[in-house]
Amino acid sequence: MKYQKVEIMFCLEPTPTDPILGLTEEFRNDPSTEKINLGVGVYQNENGETPILKSVKIAEKYLFENELTKAYFGIPGEPVLGRLTQELLLGKKHSIIENSLAQTAQTPGGTGALRIAAEFISRARPKAHVWISNPSWANHQPILLGASLQIKRYRYYDAETHSLDNSGMLDDLSEANTGDVLILHGCCHNPAGVDLSSSDWENIADLASRKKLLCIVDFAYQGFGDGPIQDRNGLLTLIKKNSDLLIANSFSKNFGLYRERTGAITVISETKKDSQAAFSHIKEIIRAIYSSPPSHGGAIVSTILGDEKLKSLWLRELDEMRQRISAMRSDFVRSLKEKCPNHDFSFIEKQKGMFSFCGLSSEQVDRLKDEFHIYMVRSGRVNIAGITPSNIGRLTDAIETVL
Ligand code: LMR
Repeated sequence: MKYQKVEIMFCLEPTPTDPILGLTEEFRNDPSTEKINLGVGVYQNENGETPILKSVKIAEKYLFENELTKAYFGIPGEPVLGRLTQELLLGKKHSIIENSLAQTAQTPGGTGALRIAAEFISRARPKAHVWISNPSWANHQPILLGASLQIKRYRYYDAETHSLDNSGMLDDLSEANTGDVLILHGCCHNPAGVDLSSSDWENIADLASRKKLLCIVDFAYQGFGDGPIQDRNGLLTLIKKNSDLLIANSFSKNFGLYRERTGAITVISETKKDSQAAFSHIKEIIRAIYSSPPSHGGAIVSTILGDEKLKSLWLRELDEMRQRISAMRSDFVRSLKEKCPNHDFSFIEKQKGMFSFCGLSSEQVDRLKDEFHIYMVRSGRVNIAGITPSNIGRLTDAIETVL
Protein backbone atom coordinates (compact mmCIF):
# COMPACT_ATOMS: atom_id res chain seq x y z
CA MET A 1 0.00 0.00 0.00
CA LYS A 2 1.35 3.40 -0.95
CA TYR A 3 1.11 6.39 1.35
CA GLN A 4 0.84 9.82 -0.11
CA LYS A 5 3.34 12.20 1.36
CA VAL A 6 1.56 15.20 2.83
CA GLU A 7 3.43 18.48 2.96
CA ILE A 8 2.79 20.21 6.25
CA MET A 9 3.12 23.92 5.87
CA PHE A 10 2.53 26.34 8.69
CA CYS A 11 3.29 29.35 6.53
CA LEU A 12 4.69 31.23 9.50
CA GLU A 13 7.45 33.80 9.45
CA PRO A 14 9.93 33.37 12.31
CA THR A 15 9.41 35.74 15.22
CA PRO A 16 12.17 37.99 16.58
CA THR A 17 14.05 36.54 19.55
CA ASP A 18 12.92 37.65 23.00
CA PRO A 19 14.73 40.88 23.94
CA ILE A 20 15.64 39.55 27.40
CA LEU A 21 15.63 35.74 27.38
CA GLY A 22 17.06 35.65 23.82
CA LEU A 23 20.01 37.62 25.15
CA THR A 24 20.55 35.04 27.90
CA GLU A 25 20.84 32.35 25.24
CA GLU A 26 23.38 34.44 23.32
CA PHE A 27 25.33 34.95 26.54
CA ARG A 28 25.35 31.21 27.30
CA ASN A 29 26.65 30.45 23.80
CA ASP A 30 29.45 33.03 24.02
CA PRO A 31 32.69 31.07 24.68
CA SER A 32 34.54 34.14 26.02
CA THR A 33 35.87 33.79 29.56
CA GLU A 34 35.61 37.55 29.99
CA LYS A 35 31.87 37.79 29.31
CA ILE A 36 29.62 39.84 31.59
CA ASN A 37 25.86 39.33 31.87
CA LEU A 38 23.96 42.51 32.69
CA GLY A 39 20.87 41.40 30.77
CA VAL A 40 18.24 39.23 32.42
CA GLY A 41 17.04 40.25 35.90
CA VAL A 42 18.77 37.58 37.92
CA TYR A 43 20.75 38.30 41.08
CA GLN A 44 24.46 37.46 41.02
CA ASN A 45 26.78 37.50 44.01
CA GLU A 46 30.25 39.08 44.11
CA ASN A 47 31.62 36.05 42.21
CA GLY A 48 29.04 36.41 39.45
CA GLU A 49 27.14 33.31 40.63
CA THR A 50 23.45 32.85 41.39
CA PRO A 51 23.60 30.36 44.24
CA ILE A 52 20.54 28.78 45.84
CA LEU A 53 19.70 30.62 49.09
CA LYS A 54 20.61 28.76 52.29
CA SER A 55 17.03 29.10 53.54
CA VAL A 56 15.82 27.50 50.30
CA LYS A 57 18.29 24.60 50.65
CA ILE A 58 17.10 23.93 54.21
CA ALA A 59 13.46 24.04 53.11
CA GLU A 60 14.19 21.66 50.23
CA LYS A 61 15.92 19.20 52.57
CA TYR A 62 12.91 19.37 54.88
CA LEU A 63 10.54 18.77 51.97
CA PHE A 64 12.64 15.89 50.64
CA GLU A 65 12.34 14.15 53.99
CA ASN A 66 8.75 15.05 54.83
CA GLU A 67 6.76 15.34 51.63
CA LEU A 68 4.29 12.47 51.62
CA THR A 69 2.47 12.62 48.31
CA LYS A 70 2.52 13.94 44.79
CA ALA A 71 -1.26 13.78 44.49
CA TYR A 72 -2.95 16.84 43.00
CA PHE A 73 -3.73 19.74 45.19
CA GLY A 74 -6.46 22.29 44.46
CA ILE A 75 -6.49 24.86 41.68
CA PRO A 76 -4.97 27.62 43.89
CA GLY A 77 -1.93 25.45 44.65
CA GLU A 78 -0.07 25.03 47.93
CA PRO A 79 -2.84 25.40 50.56
CA VAL A 80 -1.08 27.63 53.13
CA LEU A 81 0.78 29.72 50.56
CA GLY A 82 -2.21 32.02 49.97
CA ARG A 83 -2.34 33.29 53.53
CA LEU A 84 1.46 33.54 53.85
CA THR A 85 1.66 35.47 50.58
CA GLN A 86 -1.00 37.91 51.74
CA GLU A 87 0.91 38.47 54.97
CA LEU A 88 4.11 39.15 53.04
CA LEU A 89 2.34 41.53 50.65
CA LEU A 90 0.20 43.44 53.14
CA GLY A 91 1.55 42.78 56.65
CA LYS A 92 0.36 40.14 59.08
CA LYS A 93 -2.57 41.81 60.79
CA HIS A 94 -3.90 43.79 57.84
CA SER A 95 -7.68 44.19 58.02
CA ILE A 96 -8.02 42.89 54.46
CA ILE A 97 -6.61 39.54 55.60
CA GLU A 98 -8.54 39.53 58.87
CA ASN A 99 -11.79 40.19 56.99
CA SER A 100 -11.05 37.63 54.23
CA LEU A 101 -11.24 40.28 51.51
CA ALA A 102 -8.22 38.83 49.68
CA GLN A 103 -7.95 35.51 47.86
CA THR A 104 -4.70 34.17 46.47
CA ALA A 105 -3.70 31.47 44.01
CA GLN A 106 -0.15 30.22 43.44
CA THR A 107 0.91 30.71 39.82
CA PRO A 108 3.79 29.67 37.56
CA GLY A 109 5.93 32.74 38.26
CA GLY A 110 4.97 36.39 38.20
CA THR A 111 4.46 36.01 34.45
CA GLY A 112 1.80 33.35 35.10
CA ALA A 113 0.14 35.66 37.63
CA LEU A 114 0.01 38.50 35.10
CA ARG A 115 -1.36 36.19 32.41
CA ILE A 116 -4.16 35.10 34.74
CA ALA A 117 -4.80 38.76 35.63
CA ALA A 118 -5.02 39.58 31.91
CA GLU A 119 -7.61 36.85 31.31
CA PHE A 120 -9.51 38.07 34.36
CA ILE A 121 -9.60 41.61 32.94
CA SER A 122 -10.97 40.33 29.66
CA ARG A 123 -13.91 38.94 31.66
CA ALA A 124 -14.33 41.66 34.29
CA ARG A 125 -13.57 44.77 32.21
CA PRO A 126 -13.75 43.61 28.57
CA LYS A 127 -13.99 47.14 27.13
CA ALA A 128 -11.25 48.64 29.27
CA HIS A 129 -7.96 49.99 28.05
CA VAL A 130 -5.03 48.68 30.02
CA TRP A 131 -2.55 51.45 30.86
CA ILE A 132 1.09 50.48 31.16
CA SER A 133 4.04 52.73 31.85
CA ASN A 134 6.34 53.89 29.11
CA PRO A 135 8.72 52.14 29.35
CA SER A 136 7.60 48.98 31.08
CA TRP A 137 8.80 45.40 31.44
CA ALA A 138 9.23 44.05 27.90
CA ASN A 139 6.84 41.17 28.59
CA HIS A 140 3.88 43.28 29.78
CA GLN A 141 2.66 44.03 26.29
CA PRO A 142 2.86 40.42 24.96
CA ILE A 143 1.10 39.11 28.08
CA LEU A 144 -1.77 41.59 27.69
CA LEU A 145 -2.02 41.06 23.94
CA GLY A 146 -2.21 37.33 24.65
CA ALA A 147 -5.59 38.03 26.28
CA SER A 148 -6.57 40.37 23.40
CA LEU A 149 -6.61 43.44 25.66
CA GLN A 150 -6.24 46.98 24.37
CA ILE A 151 -3.12 48.70 25.62
CA LYS A 152 -2.41 52.37 26.25
CA ARG A 153 0.83 53.83 27.53
CA TYR A 154 1.37 56.54 30.12
CA ARG A 155 4.58 58.56 30.27
CA TYR A 156 6.74 57.47 33.17
CA TYR A 157 10.48 57.87 32.67
CA ASP A 158 12.06 61.14 31.61
CA ALA A 159 15.31 60.19 29.85
CA GLU A 160 16.63 63.77 30.11
CA THR A 161 16.37 64.00 33.88
CA HIS A 162 16.63 60.22 34.51
CA SER A 163 13.66 60.52 36.83
CA LEU A 164 9.89 60.24 36.95
CA ASP A 165 7.93 62.24 34.39
CA ASN A 166 5.33 63.04 36.99
CA SER A 167 3.28 65.60 35.09
CA GLY A 168 3.43 63.50 31.89
CA MET A 169 2.18 60.50 33.85
CA LEU A 170 -0.71 62.36 35.45
CA ASP A 171 -1.63 64.10 32.17
CA ASP A 172 -1.78 60.79 30.32
CA LEU A 173 -3.71 59.04 33.05
CA SER A 174 -6.21 61.89 33.16
CA GLU A 175 -7.23 60.64 29.70
CA ALA A 176 -8.16 57.21 31.09
CA ASN A 177 -11.83 56.28 30.86
CA THR A 178 -13.82 55.34 33.94
CA GLY A 179 -13.26 51.65 34.57
CA ASP A 180 -9.95 51.35 32.70
CA VAL A 181 -7.16 49.19 34.08
CA LEU A 182 -3.87 50.58 35.41
CA ILE A 183 -0.72 48.50 35.81
CA LEU A 184 1.75 49.79 38.40
CA HIS A 185 5.12 48.44 39.48
CA GLY A 186 4.92 47.89 43.27
CA CYS A 187 8.61 48.84 43.69
CA CYS A 188 11.90 48.72 41.78
CA HIS A 189 10.42 49.74 38.44
CA ASN A 190 11.55 47.46 35.63
CA PRO A 191 13.31 48.74 33.51
CA ALA A 192 13.70 52.33 34.81
CA GLY A 193 14.72 51.78 38.46
CA VAL A 194 12.68 54.92 39.22
CA ASP A 195 9.91 54.47 41.79
CA LEU A 196 6.91 56.56 42.79
CA SER A 197 7.38 58.65 45.94
CA SER A 198 4.77 58.42 48.70
CA SER A 199 3.06 61.57 47.41
CA ASP A 200 3.03 60.16 43.85
CA TRP A 201 1.35 57.03 45.20
CA GLU A 202 -1.21 59.22 46.99
CA ASN A 203 -1.95 61.07 43.73
CA ILE A 204 -2.28 57.83 41.77
CA ALA A 205 -4.49 56.32 44.47
CA ASP A 206 -6.79 59.37 44.30
CA LEU A 207 -6.89 59.35 40.52
CA ALA A 208 -7.62 55.60 40.42
CA SER A 209 -10.39 55.99 42.95
CA ARG A 210 -11.93 58.98 41.11
CA LYS A 211 -11.92 57.18 37.78
CA LYS A 212 -12.73 53.76 39.25
CA LEU A 213 -9.61 52.33 37.63
CA LEU A 214 -8.85 48.72 38.41
CA CYS A 215 -5.21 48.66 39.50
CA ILE A 216 -2.95 45.68 38.97
CA VAL A 217 0.20 45.89 41.04
CA ASP A 218 3.08 43.99 39.49
CA PHE A 219 5.14 43.19 42.57
CA ALA A 220 8.14 41.24 41.31
CA TYR A 221 10.88 42.80 43.46
CA GLN A 222 9.53 43.06 47.00
CA GLY A 223 12.58 43.37 49.25
CA PHE A 224 14.95 44.78 46.61
CA GLY A 225 13.99 48.45 47.10
CA ASP A 226 14.22 49.43 50.76
CA GLY A 227 13.22 46.11 52.34
CA PRO A 228 10.15 43.86 52.21
CA ILE A 229 8.16 45.92 54.71
CA GLN A 230 9.03 49.36 53.31
CA ASP A 231 8.47 48.18 49.73
CA ARG A 232 4.80 47.53 50.39
CA ASN A 233 4.03 51.19 51.20
CA GLY A 234 2.84 52.13 47.71
CA LEU A 235 0.54 49.14 47.56
CA LEU A 236 -0.89 49.96 50.98
CA THR A 237 -1.54 53.57 49.93
CA LEU A 238 -3.38 52.36 46.86
CA ILE A 239 -5.45 49.91 48.88
CA LYS A 240 -6.62 52.58 51.32
CA LYS A 241 -8.52 54.34 48.54
CA ASN A 242 -9.29 51.51 46.14
CA SER A 243 -11.23 48.53 47.40
CA ASP A 244 -10.86 46.37 44.27
CA LEU A 245 -7.38 45.48 43.14
CA LEU A 246 -5.17 42.69 41.80
CA ILE A 247 -1.61 41.91 42.87
CA ALA A 248 0.69 39.77 40.72
CA ASN A 249 3.76 38.88 42.73
CA SER A 250 6.83 36.82 42.00
CA PHE A 251 9.06 34.74 44.26
CA SER A 252 11.69 34.45 41.52
CA LYS A 253 13.86 37.29 42.78
CA ASN A 254 13.30 37.55 46.54
CA PHE A 255 13.57 33.78 47.06
CA GLY A 256 15.88 33.22 44.09
CA LEU A 257 13.44 30.63 42.73
CA TYR A 258 13.66 31.76 39.10
CA ARG A 259 13.45 28.40 37.36
CA GLU A 260 10.93 26.98 39.83
CA ARG A 261 8.38 29.41 38.35
CA THR A 262 6.72 30.52 41.55
CA GLY A 263 4.45 33.50 41.99
CA ALA A 264 0.90 34.31 43.02
CA ILE A 265 -2.17 36.24 41.94
CA THR A 266 -4.17 37.95 44.68
CA VAL A 267 -7.58 39.49 44.17
CA ILE A 268 -8.95 41.97 46.70
CA SER A 269 -12.51 43.23 46.77
CA GLU A 270 -14.80 45.29 48.98
CA THR A 271 -16.67 42.38 50.52
CA LYS A 272 -15.83 38.75 51.17
CA LYS A 273 -18.64 37.73 48.82
CA ASP A 274 -17.26 39.90 45.99
CA SER A 275 -13.72 38.65 46.43
CA GLN A 276 -14.92 35.04 46.47
CA ALA A 277 -16.91 35.63 43.30
CA ALA A 278 -13.88 37.19 41.60
CA PHE A 279 -11.70 34.33 42.80
CA SER A 280 -14.08 31.76 41.35
CA HIS A 281 -13.29 33.30 37.95
CA ILE A 282 -9.55 33.24 38.66
CA LYS A 283 -9.85 29.54 39.47
CA GLU A 284 -11.90 28.81 36.36
CA ILE A 285 -9.30 30.60 34.23
CA ILE A 286 -6.43 28.66 35.84
CA ARG A 287 -8.25 25.35 35.41
CA ALA A 288 -8.62 25.94 31.70
CA ILE A 289 -4.96 26.91 31.17
CA TYR A 290 -2.81 24.69 33.42
CA SER A 291 -5.24 23.21 35.95
CA SER A 292 -3.08 23.82 39.00
CA PRO A 293 0.48 25.08 39.51
CA PRO A 294 3.59 22.93 39.96
CA SER A 295 4.15 22.31 43.65
CA HIS A 296 7.84 22.61 44.47
CA GLY A 297 8.44 26.38 44.53
CA GLY A 298 5.26 27.10 46.49
CA ALA A 299 6.17 24.39 49.00
CA ILE A 300 9.60 26.01 49.49
CA VAL A 301 8.13 29.48 50.03
CA SER A 302 5.51 28.27 52.50
CA THR A 303 8.06 26.19 54.39
CA ILE A 304 10.26 29.27 54.80
CA LEU A 305 7.53 31.81 55.55
CA GLY A 306 5.81 29.41 57.93
CA ASP A 307 8.85 28.89 60.13
CA GLU A 308 10.13 31.84 62.21
CA LYS A 309 13.79 30.72 62.19
CA LEU A 310 13.90 29.99 58.48
CA LYS A 311 12.07 33.21 57.75
CA SER A 312 14.65 35.29 59.60
CA LEU A 313 17.48 33.51 57.76
CA TRP A 314 15.70 34.29 54.48
CA LEU A 315 15.21 37.95 55.48
CA ARG A 316 18.94 38.23 56.21
CA GLU A 317 19.75 36.72 52.81
CA LEU A 318 17.36 39.12 51.11
CA ASP A 319 18.99 42.07 52.92
CA GLU A 320 22.38 40.87 51.75
CA MET A 321 21.26 40.78 48.12
CA ARG A 322 19.74 44.26 48.37
CA GLN A 323 22.80 45.70 50.06
CA ARG A 324 25.19 44.21 47.51
CA ILE A 325 23.23 45.77 44.65
CA SER A 326 23.17 49.11 46.41
CA ALA A 327 26.97 48.97 46.99
CA MET A 328 27.47 48.12 43.31
CA ARG A 329 25.37 51.14 42.32
CA SER A 330 27.78 53.38 44.25
CA ASP A 331 30.91 51.66 42.89
CA PHE A 332 29.57 51.79 39.34
CA VAL A 333 28.90 55.54 39.60
CA ARG A 334 32.32 56.15 41.18
CA SER A 335 34.15 54.20 38.49
CA LEU A 336 32.19 55.85 35.66
CA LYS A 337 32.94 59.27 37.12
CA GLU A 338 36.66 58.52 36.98
CA LYS A 339 36.61 57.21 33.43
CA CYS A 340 33.94 59.38 31.83
CA PRO A 341 34.18 62.71 33.72
CA ASN A 342 32.09 64.49 31.08
CA HIS A 343 29.06 62.34 31.72
CA ASP A 344 26.88 62.44 34.81
CA PHE A 345 25.82 58.99 35.98
CA SER A 346 25.01 59.98 39.56
CA PHE A 347 21.30 59.20 39.00
CA ILE A 348 22.14 55.46 39.02
CA GLU A 349 22.96 55.68 42.72
CA LYS A 350 19.57 57.21 43.51
CA GLN A 351 17.59 54.47 41.78
CA LYS A 352 16.25 51.23 43.24
CA GLY A 353 16.18 47.54 42.49
CA MET A 354 18.09 45.59 39.89
CA PHE A 355 17.80 47.94 36.92
CA SER A 356 18.77 51.34 35.61
CA PHE A 357 19.07 52.81 32.15
CA CYS A 358 22.71 53.69 31.63
CA GLY A 359 21.80 56.02 28.76
CA LEU A 360 23.68 54.10 26.03
CA SER A 361 22.11 53.86 22.57
CA SER A 362 21.22 50.47 21.04
CA GLU A 363 24.28 50.78 18.77
CA GLN A 364 26.55 51.37 21.76
CA VAL A 365 24.96 48.38 23.54
CA ASP A 366 25.62 46.26 20.43
CA ARG A 367 29.27 47.34 20.46
CA LEU A 368 29.58 46.34 24.12
CA LYS A 369 28.37 42.87 23.18
CA ASP A 370 30.30 42.45 19.93
CA GLU A 371 33.62 43.94 21.04
CA PHE A 372 33.67 43.35 24.82
CA HIS A 373 31.28 40.39 25.46
CA ILE A 374 29.18 42.59 27.73
CA TYR A 375 25.48 41.81 27.47
CA MET A 376 22.67 44.24 28.29
CA VAL A 377 19.18 44.80 26.91
CA ARG A 378 19.23 47.01 23.78
CA SER A 379 17.24 49.73 25.55
CA GLY A 380 20.38 50.35 27.63
CA ARG A 381 18.90 48.66 30.72
CA VAL A 382 21.66 47.41 33.00
CA ASN A 383 21.16 44.70 35.59
CA ILE A 384 23.24 46.22 38.38
CA ALA A 385 23.20 42.84 40.17
CA GLY A 386 25.48 41.51 37.42
CA ILE A 387 28.27 43.96 38.33
CA THR A 388 30.99 42.52 40.57
CA PRO A 389 34.23 43.88 42.05
CA SER A 390 36.14 41.85 39.48
CA ASN A 391 34.23 42.90 36.34
CA ILE A 392 33.51 46.56 37.14
CA GLY A 393 36.86 47.83 35.79
CA ARG A 394 36.42 46.08 32.45
CA LEU A 395 32.81 47.22 32.26
CA THR A 396 33.50 50.90 32.81
CA ASP A 397 36.55 50.80 30.47
CA ALA A 398 34.28 49.40 27.78
CA ILE A 399 31.58 52.01 28.42
CA GLU A 400 34.23 54.74 28.17
CA THR A 401 35.31 53.32 24.79
CA VAL A 402 31.82 53.15 23.29
CA LEU A 403 30.94 56.60 24.59
C1 LMR B 1 13.77 40.68 33.50
O1 LMR B 1 13.09 41.67 33.26
O2 LMR B 1 14.94 40.56 33.09
C2 LMR B 1 13.20 39.56 34.32
O3 LMR B 1 11.97 39.91 34.82
C3 LMR B 1 13.22 38.25 33.62
C4 LMR B 1 12.22 38.14 32.52
O4 LMR B 1 11.48 37.15 32.50
O5 LMR B 1 12.16 39.01 31.66
